[in-house]
Amino acid sequence: MAAPTARPHVLMMSEITADGKLTLKNGASSKILMKYMAHETEILLHETRAAYDAIMVGANTIRIDNSFLTVRLVPGKSPLRVIPTSMADIPPDANVLGPDAPTVIAISEKAPADRVAAIRAKGVSVVVAGKEHVDLPLLMQILTEQFGVKKLMIEGGPTLNWHMLHNKLVDEIRLIHLPFIVGGSDTPSLVGGMHINSEDEMIRLNLKKYYMCGTNLVSEFDVLYT
Ligand SMILES: NC(=O)c1ccc[n+]([C@@H]2O[C@H](COP(=O)([O-])OP(=O)(O)OC[C@H]3O[C@@H](n4cnc5c(N)ncnc54)[C@H](OP(=O)(O)O)[C@@H]3O)[C@@H](O)[C@H]2O)c1
Repeated sequence: MAAPTARPHVLMMSEITADGKLTLKNGASSKILMKYMAHETEILLHETRAAYDAIMVGANTIRIDNSFLTVRLVPGKSPLRVIPTSMADIPPDANVLGPDAPTVIAISEKAPADRVAAIRAKGVSVVVAGKEHVDLPLLMQILTEQFGVKKLMIEGGPTLNWHMLHNKLVDEIRLIHLPFIVGGSDTPSLVGGMHINSEDEMIRLNLKKYYMCGTNLVSEFDVLYT
């Protein structure tokens, strides 16, 4: 079978401290840091969500943050919410399974049937994308072909960010810089996953824009894969 090629345009957007961290400490919700975003930047985040067809976060972000991933601060439609979780491991009372916006849970063939049934019982779409783990290139193809997603934003966390970058699926990055340092060698940073072995593997970016949004610096990059 030919490798999947169809995929949406993908923006990675994140709030990040001056030392590159996404939360206060390992296991903490990013909502604590998000309280310190300028109101203008919260508006920018919600405007961006409203401009995208779909929004994806990793399942661990759902388990820790219990995010809604909806548009609330500006007029506009909430995007399709997409959560990859290989074993369908989403708490049944997760906000993302609620009625506020449509949701797709992407699972692998190994996901237990009872968990899948519980998710489907909430009226949420479930797609199988991969044998043992969610195959992100295949998921991108499914989102394009079955759900008409042309523009997808991803809002973390670091594990999903790394896998998306590693699969060369990210086109743009937009960072909201928070003027804090939190430290911690195991505190989640923008990109997790495995380290690289040589400078040849560095993912190169082109800084295309930077501006103040309220009290927050915002930077925008194109991702340059070789
Ligand atoms: N500051 C910010 O902008 C921001 C944004 C989002 C999150 N965060 C923070 O990030 C932390 C969570 O990050 P995290 O790195 O632990 O988890 P994550 O990236 O949110 O989620 C990773 C999980 O997604 C599931 N997954 C399924 N298929 C995958 C695939 N192909 N590639 C990657 N993931 C896949 C896996 O869970 P299964 O085992 O269920 O398959 C995996 O463990 C939280 O503390 C949260 O607050 C911060």
